[in-house]
Amino acid sequence: MDIRRYAAADLPGVLRLCAIEHWPSLLEDEARAHRALTAPGVTTMVAIGNGSLLGFAQLQGDGEIRAHLSLVAVDPAARRRGIGRDLLTLGLREAGGLRIDLITNIADGFYASLPHFRLNGYRLYADYSGPDRLRPEIVWKSGRKLPG
Ligand SMILES: CC(C)(COP(=O)(O)OP(=O)(O)OC[C@H]1O[C@@H](n2cnc3c(N)ncnc32)[C@H](O)[C@@H]1OP(=O)(O)O)[C@@H](O)C(=O)NCCC(=O)NCCS
Repeated sequence: MDIRRYAAADLPGVLRLCAIEHWPSLLEDEARAHRALTAPGVTTMVAIGNGSLLGFAQLQGDGEIRAHLSLVAVDPAARRRGIGRDLLTLGLREAGGLRIDLITNIADGFYASLPHFRLNGYRLYADYSGPDRLRPEIVWKSGRKLPG
């Protein structure tokens, strides 16, 4: 298993995992996805095993104090081998900083297994004012039109 920084040739593997997870944001536009994964301040890590991309994590950081986790996914066939934990551990080391903040409503068992404490969080949008139960991600996944 090799965990290293993302390179352009890794994009198909990253998008494959996004498709498995039904995460639409990177899938919509491949060129935009690559720019997002390599933008200034972004650290994207990939896990490679037997020539296949088995996991990835995308963090944003200030390089000194804090990093934010955007995405982490591991191939369903490769879970519970420590890949997710290693992606975050090495990702924080690469990003620089002391800690990772994240907002999630899934994978509680995974995050709870890492050294942590819990905070209450918000996800802020530029122009979203609908009720919480119509959060855009959920509307999108169910195939209904996005608000606005
Ligand atoms: C969450 C995810 C990245 C974890 O990846 P992983 O490589 O399987 O995680 P690890 O093997 O590093 O797990 C480390 C520890 O986390 C805990 N853990 C991991 N998955 C768990 C689960 N499904 N239920 C309970 N605990 C879990 C365990 O304590 C595990 O240690 P152990 O296997 O020795 O018991 C992976 O399950 C995944 O891709 N899920 C779908 C995408 C997702 O939910 N991403 C997070 C939101 S952005």
